[in-house]
Amino acid sequence: MQKIIAANWKMYKTRDQAAQCAEALADALRTAPANPAVLVFAPFTCLDVVAKAFAAIPALAAGAQDCYPADEGAFTGEISPLMLRDAGAAWVLVGHSERRHVLGEDDALVARKTTFALEKGLSVMLCVGETLEEREAGALTAVLQRQLESVFDALPQSRRDALEGHFAVAYEPVWAIGTGRVAGHAEVLEAHALVRNLLARCIGPAAERLPVLYGGSVKPANAAGLMGLDNVDGLLVGGASLDPQSFLQIVGA
Ligand code: 13P
Repeated sequence: MQKIIAANWKMYKTRDQAAQCAEALADALRTAPANPAVLVFAPFTCLDVVAKAFAAIPALAAGAQDCYPADEGAFTGEISPLMLRDAGAAWVLVGHSERRHVLGEDDALVARKTTFALEKGLSVMLCVGETLEEREAGALTAVLQRQLESVFDALPQSRRDALEGHFAVAYEPVWAIGTGRVAGHAEVLEAHALVRNLLARCIGPAAERLPVLYGGSVKPANAAGLMGLDNVDGLLVGGASLDPQSFLQIVGA
């Protein structure tokens, strides 16, 4: 199984700061094997400097944090997969909880973005996860099912058959993001098993080969414990990825 350790820098870092951080990662991982893959989801303005620092390093790739499902057009403020690839992105995050809950994205838009980005040659990391209210209402399964099925229902069969190496799911419980409250091992095991089963219902046995990452208050101190859990194939790290030394400790775990 391909493992992935990913940094989501969110709306942090100027180009100079991004270059410094990316070069520190490149220096540390220049000769690292390509498994685990180490991805950095950088702000749009920093993609080119991150991609340049990572060029020709097998373990490292740059990604964007969002995209719009069109090549070009009158979509003020949006950015297309073609533009992201042009700037050096190989991956894109789709459906991050901050886009769903702060910017109001719905499942239908997340599904359109996923299909379009894959069609345009970007690899997609699809983020799913429940809010605290949904969890407390016993709706974990229903939420994950809705978030995953809406994407796969929209995906043409030819794309579903070609996801390996180009698609990952990040389970990020909304209540664990940026709160310092990491999900407990039992909660992670339950949710990841659910995601794996739902993926299998959508795409069959190939689900076993798609990485499922955990995200939400991942730190150097809890990374190894999380990576040791069944069905946890990687980590998506927010705050603790901003400092290269702390992120490298997580990669090393
Ligand atoms: P934190 O690691 O800061 O909780 O953020 C998680 C996240 O949203 C990664 O996408």
